[in-house]
Amino acid sequence: MTARSFILDTDPGQDDAIALFLALASPELQVDAVTTVAGNVPQPLVTENALALLSLCNRSDIPVYRGCERPMLRDLYTAEYVHGPRGIDGSELPPTSTSPEKQHGVDAIIERCLQAEDGSVTLCPVGPLTNIAMALIKEPNIVPKIREIVWMGGAFHEPGNTTNLSEFNAYVDPHAAHVVFTAGAPLTIFPLDVTHKALMLPEHVDRLEAFDTPVSRAAVGMLRFYERYDVDKYDIPGAPLHDPCVVAYLVDPTLFVGHRTHVAIGYTDETTIGNTSEVEGMEANATIMTDVDAERFFDLVVTRVGSL
Ligand code: BDR
Ligand code: CA
Repeated sequence: MTARSFILDTDPGQDDAIALFLALASPELQVDAVTTVAGNVPQPLVTENALALLSLCNRSDIPVYRGCERPMLRDLYTAEYVHGPRGIDGSELPPTSTSPEKQHGVDAIIERCLQAEDGSVTLCPVGPLTNIAMALIKEPNIVPKIREIVWMGGAFHEPGNTTNLSEFNAYVDPHAAHVVFTAGAPLTIFPLDVTHKALMLPEHVDRLEAFDTPVSRAAVGMLRFYERYDVDKYDIPGAPLHDPCVVAYLVDPTLFVGHRTHVAIGYTDETTIGNTSEVEGMEANATIMTDVDAERFFDLVVTRVGSL
């Protein structure tokens, strides 16, 4: 079996952290590089968090590239109210002594794409799409290199989690999302419609706690911190585990159900900014996921992260 390699573009974030752990624990996958983007918390925190998470997993061999500092047009909107002031609150990760690469994240994405065979690169953005859009604008020749962009973001038939209409990653940089949606690269989207069905319940966290490893202890601390926001906001028994859905899909696409459609995003009118929608009568530009086998998904997440 050849592992599927990919670039994780991330704004850690507790759920970003679990996505990274799941990737590192999965023999089917190889994390080629991590690029960071301002989102849940600003730069340089997201970069420091990515370095600290890799260091916890003894995987500081994976290069981390600091990416964009702010969205393309809008001011940066962050989510400390969900993730805490550090972004990965709930864990006690010591500051790391490792450093990001000198190259900018956008240039790292471009260079790695240009060096690759056609149709071979997988990009997994689990934050605002700023880095991916900037790469596409700076070097459109990367498009034929891309096998798939797999993004966590958007909300189609589910209410938003940041405004009534908009999901966080879509809301933070809707202009970048528009660039990505219209670039012509194969695109798979994990919106709230599916991630709100991937609820991490207390029993899942308890199962993970039983592994009692440095990684599982950090993961459990983060998850218990992170769940309180959605549990209070939606009056649900657990928190949606958004970003790990992207990684789980790379491991086992049969966990999810989706359909081909044409997606668009509001980026001009402040009342609909970041609102993703399906447009009828236009050629499909994405697959959007709508359902998950939550039991198998959490089995995968718990057993894999527990084994790290
Ligand atoms: C998305 O926004 C962030 O808060 C999470 O990390 C996830 O990527 C969910 O709306
Ligand atoms: Ca994220």
